[in-house]
Amino acid sequence: MGGIVVVGTQWGDEGKGKIVDLFTESVDVVARFQGGNNAGHTLVVGEEQTVLHLIPSGILHRRVKCVIGNGVVIDPEICLEEIDGLKKRGYLKNNKQLLISDRAHVILPYHKLIDKLREAKRGEKKIGTTGRGIGPAYEDKMCRVGIRMGDFINASRFKKCLEAILPDKNEYIRKVLKGSSIKMESLLALQRRSAKKLAPYVTDTSVQLDQWLRRGKQVLFEGAQGTSLDVDHGTYPYVTSSNTVSANAATGTGVGPNTIDQIIGISKAYTTRVGSGPFPTELIDKIGQTLQTNGGEFGATTGRPRRCGWLDLVVLRHAIRTNGLTGIALTKLDVLSGLPKLKVCTAYRYRGQLVKELPADLTRLEQCRPVYTEYEGWTEDISHIRDFDDLPKTAKKYVQQLEKQLEVPVVLVSVGPQRAATFFCQQIFS
Ligand code: GDP
Ligand code: IMO
Ligand code: MG
Repeated sequence: MGGIVVVGTQWGDEGKGKIVDLFTESVDVVARFQGGNNAGHTLVVGEEQTVLHLIPSGILHRRVKCVIGNGVVIDPEICLEEIDGLKKRGYLKNNKQLLISDRAHVILPYHKLIDKLREAKRGEKKIGTTGRGIGPAYEDKMCRVGIRMGDFINASRFKKCLEAILPDKNEYIRKVLKGSSIKMESLLALQRRSAKKLAPYVTDTSVQLDQWLRRGKQVLFEGAQGTSLDVDHGTYPYVTSSNTVSANAATGTGVGPNTIDQIIGISKAYTTRVGSGPFPTELIDKIGQTLQTNGGEFGATTGRPRRCGWLDLVVLRHAIRTNGLTGIALTKLDVLSGLPKLKVCTAYRYRGQLVKELPADLTRLEQCRPVYTEYEGWTEDISHIRDFDDLPKTAKKYVQQLEKQLEVPVVLVSVGPQRAATFFCQQIFS
């Protein structure tokens, strides 16, 4: 096996970090391919919790190399903070464990400022971004005025890039967004503070990945966010600014798509969403609150409460198709314990018509009402269970029905935040 991709199938926070950390036991390299520090991936090993925003979720395994690919946008100071935090706790002892692409674009203070000022200007219509400058940084990349890691770590090249772009940025900030200019000197100081420390990690990661793959190394490509936040396939414009789907694992790291032979979609046993935008199965009632409390549904990046709702198979089928999923890892099944009845949305109803695919038209999606199938719940605590056969009968049925309706195998079930609170239903590593 060469490559396995892990992606989120919903609106993010499906438990990708936990599953990537677990899968890392069976691979040699973990590579992030998109997003930035808008992501918050939680890993729990024993009593110790680690939240990673930029560094791949394989980093707790010392033997494994971690790559931040060209498709990621990097906030230099946040990246350094994360590196330092890991080092302080005894991880990342060898700098060679982490590689950062020289082609990855850099998030600078003007990106963060533009992100925040724009959201404030949008008022009620805000996207609910993480305010981390993600959209503005990707915009610059596409507009061909972005600054890449390779340029950032070189003081004179960085200055030259800034001289070309900063006057335009400041004019936009002042005149359109009514904000205050960013001073050239503050950006140069930021570069002086961080570039030297980041430089040892910066390299051509595409070439390195190719060499590893040729030597038969197994690479896991770690997605951030989720399919319904994908800039093409998500609930646009209430999305993030990158392609979160599996195909971007190749583009975002500089390997060929033929490298990939398994694509695992992570899905919660229910649905959550942070930020604005349509969410057909959202529960604005006691059950929604129960899911939020029992699931600890508060953002790992911004701390915002996550909106909660029933599992939505329209959303999952969309993810299966747009990612080419070969398996589903079902997380947080334990959170459903104690709910007497469970509902699963199998389709939507729109003006009397049955809708089975996620509509592109948001006004239509907002008027879609979920069509539910009801299942019996279970009362037992299942967080200690380590074998599918030991699950309560109704929990087994819940999982088996999903498999049947989605026509994709559930390869793994997760019943707690800890690495160990998991069991495989199907072998995915040889
Ligand atoms: P990610 O962004 O997809 O990596 O997910 P987050 O880390 O943002 O959010 C998932 C949250 O659920 C984290 O707090 C995890 O520790 C936790 N978690 C992951 N899997 C499970 C599970 O099976 N059961 C429970 N109860 N919590 C889980
Ligand atoms: P992980 O990897 C959940 C959401 C934001 C907002 C929208 C756009 O932890 O699953 P952005 O800052 O990206 O421009 O915000 O996307 N969002 C996430 N929601 N999990 C994430 O990452 C997210 N990253 C971005 O809340 O609605
Ligand atoms: Mg998260």
